[in-house]
Amino acid sequence: MARTFWVGGNFKMNGNSASLKELVASFNAAEADKNVEVVLAAPFVYVPLVASSLRSDWAVAGENCYVKASGAFTGEVSPEMLKDVGAKWVILGHSERRNILGESDEFTAEKTVKALEAGLKVSLCVGELLEEREAGITQSVVERQLDAVVKAVKEEDWANIVIAYEPVWAIGTGKVATPEQAQEVHANIRKYLQKAVSAKVAEETRIVYGGSVSPSNCVEAAKQADVDGFLVGGASLKPEFVKIVNATQ
Ligand code: G3P
Repeated sequence: MARTFWVGGNFKMNGNSASLKELVASFNAAEADKNVEVVLAAPFVYVPLVASSLRSDWAVAGENCYVKASGAFTGEVSPEMLKDVGAKWVILGHSERRNILGESDEFTAEKTVKALEAGLKVSLCVGELLEEREAGITQSVVERQLDAVVKAVKEEDWANIVIAYEPVWAIGTGKVATPEQAQEVHANIRKYLQKAVSAKVAEETRIVYGGSVSPSNCVEAAKQADVDGFLVGGASLKPEFVKIVNATQ
């Protein structure tokens, strides 16, 4: 089965009503590859704005969510709320959540379960710190992060999960992983899925790369056999993001 190329934009904590309206208008007017699944993740407060104005062939994501549907959890947003305002996806386990907000593998897995139960699709981020890469433990770190989710979800849930491999040392640093470095980890993740879940899930799950992806480096990376798309931070805030969407054309 051919895996549909998937490109996500992660606005992180950037933008305002005016700038995001302008950005969405530029995306709506652009010629984007129709064979690519595109998802834009906006800060919670701008999800309704983006969802109501974005072209209908692209989808919107939240950048995080909580593990309850409602209740006394001041400051949190539930997957049900995200769905209610038009999100179809949510990014979970981003390294900024793991490393700045201290979110664990287990908490990320619990969020994944709740988001899927609420009917959202999940872009699940994994990736190693620079010191972990230098210590040669990239694979075991990524497998530990994935293990928690493998234990928590059912085999059929993987149809609604895209794995984003984001080496932390490449995020926002301009230091992109080489296409070979990305391919090596993606291929190992696929082997891991085969062993830990099933051959079908290994074959069908999209594994996308994130970390300083730009219009100039995306074409080579997209040629790698196990790179099924990208999760893009900084470069998703510019109209040129469409060049990344069109990386395989
Ligand atoms: O989620 C995307 C991300 O962490 C990569 O960010 O700015 O390096 O493309 P950036």
